[in-house]
Amino acid sequence: MTLVIAPAPAATRSPADQALDLLLARRSPWPLAEPVPSEAELQRAFAAAMCAPDHGALRPWRFVLVRGAARERLGDLFVQAARLRDPEGDAERFRRKALVAPLLVAVVAHVQPHPKVPEVEQTVATGAATMNLLNALHLQGYGCFWVSGPNAYDPTVQAGLGLAANEQLLGFVYVGTPQDGGTRPSGRADPAPHVREWSGPQAR
Ligand SMILES: Cc1cc2nc3c(=O)[nH]c(=O)nc-3n(C[C@H](O)[C@H](O)[C@H](O)COP(=O)(O)O)c2cc1C
Repeated sequence: MTLVIAPAPAATRSPADQALDLLLARRSPWPLAEPVPSEAELQRAFAAAMCAPDHGALRPWRFVLVRGAARERLGDLFVQAARLRDPEGDAERFRRKALVAPLLVAVVAHVQPHPKVPEVEQTVATGAATMNLLNALHLQGYGCFWVSGPNAYDPTVQAGLGLAANEQLLGFVYVGTPQDGGTRPSGRADPAPHVREWSGPQAR
């Protein structure tokens, strides 16, 4: 199967084509700086997150905004956690990770026991909601960069952010305005090797 991504001729570009062009142009730009999205823009982006597919309508996603002076406190938390992970290491270097963008959104999967919706589906739904958030912010002209790293998997960081025992921290989305054009070279894979057609069980 050959998939070809080709823009339609400019004269015939429908709004849907143009929206798809914007989606195809999404990147994770770096660095990011002020301005951050307005409250109205954030609300629209979180509304897009709520459109993610969601088995059982569990709404397992939680988003925790960290901005302004709270980033300094998150930096303190990162340093504290790093000291506990490695008392001999350079814990201070983790402080920067809270300060490198003007807005951070911690991504949390709130996983509940459910007879029909296993944990993995709730985690994936949270990822889908986060992708909608990234795309909605991108469409409004902002840049996002999703990171995990040691902080995301650290119980001290998770507790400091107020996560319950049934909540997973899936990383942090850095949000801001791309600087210097904001484009990091970032290739896109040819979809063909990732997609195949199935027409029935293979003969053994
Ligand atoms: C859950 C998750 C965690 C990630 N963590 C990191 C990370 O810690 N460091 C990093 O450089 N990229 C990380 N990435 C990848 C970047 O967000 C980004 O997708 C990658 O740099 C490719 O850039 P692009 O989105 O422009 O193609 C992560 C992505 C996901 C989905």
